[in-house]
Amino acid sequence: MENPFKFGGIVRGPFFADRNQELDELSREMINLSRIFLISPRRYGKTCLLFNLMDKLNEIGIASAYIDLNAYPGLGNLAEAYTNRTTKALETNTEKLVKIFSSLRLLRPKISVGPNGSMSAGVEVAVQEKASLSALIEGMNHADRLAAKQNRKLVVIIDEFSDLTKFNGHGLEKALRSEVQQHEHIGYIFSGSEESVMLSMAKDRKRAFYKLGRIMGLGPIERKPYTDFIMNWLCKGNYTADRDDLQKLFELGNDIPHNIQRLCHNMWEIARENRIVAPELIDQLPMIIAKQDSPHYELLWRSVSQQQKKLLMALSAAHDPKPFSKDFQLTYGIGPSSSIKASLDSLVKKGILYKTIEGKYQFSDTFMPCWIDYIGDKKQGW
Ligand SMILES: Nc1ncnc2c1ncn2[C@@H]1O[C@H](COP(=O)(O)OP(=O)(O)OP(=O)(O)O)[C@@H](O)[C@H]1O
Ligand SMILES: [Mg+2]
Repeated sequence: MENPFKFGGIVRGPFFADRNQELDELSREMINLSRIFLISPRRYGKTCLLFNLMDKLNEIGIASAYIDLNAYPGLGNLAEAYTNRTTKALETNTEKLVKIFSSLRLLRPKISVGPNGSMSAGVEVAVQEKASLSALIEGMNHADRLAAKQNRKLVVIIDEFSDLTKFNGHGLEKALRSEVQQHEHIGYIFSGSEESVMLSMAKDRKRAFYKLGRIMGLGPIERKPYTDFIMNWLCKGNYTADRDDLQKLFELGNDIPHNIQRLCHNMWEIARENRIVAPELIDQLPMIIAKQDSPHYELLWRSVSQQQKKLLMALSAAHDPKPFSKDFQLTYGIGPSSSIKASLDSLVKKGILYKTIEGKYQFSDTFMPCWIDYIGDKKQGW
């Protein structure tokens, strides 16, 4: 039997754990064609949730188009992707697509022939890059009109929405807002993980997206249904496990779905022979994962200064680190606060740490402290 605990990609259908409440809520909002800002820390499962939502919407006849802003370097690419995806969500016939794309002014059809001779229709921007915002607006406006004409509801999902700032500017945000507001047949989900950027876009009075839609925060998956999910798969695979022992997984993985999946994936493989999940096996998992990722950590380690290494070692050794406290600085022989602040800022910039909304500094990768302890032990640390 294949390992049912998948990680790293988009997890769907029977491999997707719970999120029933969130799926119901988002479906209801999209039936009402609302606008939602979906926000969570990284790897909580926004993208997976959105793909499962699209499957659900498809079952009830609502069309949907997914656009990941990360994938488009320029506004022209975005205009093409938006128009392509939304139109294809509403129309699949190639001839009709060509006709639809031909009716646009700033975009034009692009026909390609596949290796087996099959034709497919796409769209490309027909103007220079500086006019691509107008092309995007034309594409957006067109999507709403097409949905109206076909008497369909359309949901547009824009993932990694905080990336919008890379397209340079508030002018774009304003134009998008006014376009989105006029749409009567499209529901929108703007999803992103850079909490402060997303929140400032949606909550800051001066920004264009202020109060355009409701903010929905995505938390961790509840432990009970997640345990049910894990137990179900273990039973299907004839593994023996105790529900109570599995609770340790949530602590070790910080309740981050990506981590939990990774822990379970390894648990499944290690117990494959005798099919027994013992508590001692669960305890070993973080170190096993840390060692698997060692080459990646080595690279990060080489990119930081000696002072920053010392700070990282202290952060990983302390239970609830308070880096600006005298106690912490004395225990680990680091300081003063000003240089700690500079190191923390630099480590956040490098993506090794992140600063929570409450102002705490945490490792972006939950298993990195384990690796740091491991190399600390090897080198007889302090
Ligand atoms: N409901 C779920 N069931 C099973 N696995 C999940 C679930 N949600 C998330 N995951 C796991 O977490 C990983 C990360 O999920 P996903 O990419 O959707 O997170 P994200 O919030 O979009 O992250 P980012 O902010 O980095 O884009 C997935 O590859 C998958 O392994
Ligand atoms: Mg994502």
